Amino acid sequence: MSPFEKVLKDPVHDEILVEDPWVWKLVNSAAVQRLRRIRQLGTSYLTFHGAEHSRFTHSLGAYETMRRVLRQLQRECGWPKDHHTRRLALSTALLHDVGHGPFSHTFEAIYPVHHEQWTKRIVLEDDELSSILTEAGPGFPDLVVGVLQKDGRHPVLQQLITSQLDVDRMDYLLRDALNTGVSYGRFELARLIRSLSLSGDQILVKKSGIHTVEQYILARYFMYTQVYFHPVTVGSDVLVWQILRRAQELWGAGQLSDMPLEIFAMFEGPDKALSVHDYLAIDESTLLYAFRMWTRSSDEVLADLSQRFLHRRLFIPFVRPEPSPEEWAILRTAARGMGFHPDYYVSGRKSEMAGYVYRNSGIYVEETGSQPVELSRHSRVVRGLEPDSEFRLFLPKEMVEKNGPLGDRVRALLGISES
Ligand code: NI
Repeated sequence: MSPFEKVLKDPVHDEILVEDPWVWKLVNSAAVQRLRRIRQLGTSYLTFHGAEHSRFTHSLGAYETMRRVLRQLQRECGWPKDHHTRRLALSTALLHDVGHGPFSHTFEAIYPVHHEQWTKRIVLEDDELSSILTEAGPGFPDLVVGVLQKDGRHPVLQQLITSQLDVDRMDYLLRDALNTGVSYGRFELARLIRSLSLSGDQILVKKSGIHTVEQYILARYFMYTQVYFHPVTVGSDVLVWQILRRAQELWGAGQLSDMPLEIFAMFEGPDKALSVHDYLAIDESTLLYAFRMWTRSSDEVLADLSQRFLHRRLFIPFVRPEPSPEEWAILRTAARGMGFHPDYYVSGRKSEMAGYVYRNSGIYVEETGSQPVELSRHSRVVRGLEPDSEFRLFLPKEMVEKNGPLGDRVRALLGISES
């Protein structure tokens, strides 16, 4: 009998190889297949039109990256020693994002349960997934959750799944760079993997690999500043958030009946706990269909916001210091005067840009004859990348372009000349 083998073509890794029929069953579970209907980068496709790739493609990519890292560590240090640990590594990489909701972080703002909590619940409570996982051994779903939640039982796997240098980031940086079409997210993955080693429970980078790691850290820095927190994308997130907020409010007041059934359960809020089954029924197609329905809403705010999103008439971002209370008041008064409900049309958000955090959780470099040294002590480039933040104000275009005294006040506040 020929050995089991599935080869999937992939734009980042060329080929993704599945050699274990058990992993293939996981790939084909409904919970993993659902990730095809959730975009990896949320609303980024409205900024970078290529960013249509799904969390499914990234999940397979994280799995493949893990497979290659295991091959390296096996060759280099004979780790992992057993099939069980290998399966735990591969399945956790594949499932690490299974709890993401549509437009992830925006969705969390409406239904305030973090996607990592959902991942845990889905792994433990989804019948299909947990029974496939249990085929690998009793209590296996619990081991997967343990790695994801860093319970300390599998320290090496924890680092490979969630750390400054993990298979998740290695895949998403390359995949997101490729799909958005930007060049600064690139780094040499094969070389980075070849530079990995293990000492006790600590993943190390060989000294010869420092420049490759620098390239990876810089890639991450640029992807955060240029792609993930692009002001237009953040503005699109704000719009989704405002739509859901308005809809939830109308629903609470008994004034909204027109929506897909799946959304009702979500609006009931975390007090009336959403079941895993109900949660898995909510994906981006559900939300986009709801937005489509709401374009016909008798509520003008909801209808207008939904149209703005579907037709990409987004809020305009202004990168500037956070307005003072007086400035907020001016903007809100102007909005009201122009017929815009200020609670939904005037908003701001501070974006925290990830840098390289070395306190407690840095990347360690192998040193001959002494203790490993934390990366930033070797690299001035990396040392300079402290986390940073930026405030953005979001307004409808009409507010900025409006003729007359109200428009003048908005423009004056934003420092836009009138010509
Ligand atoms: Ni991920």
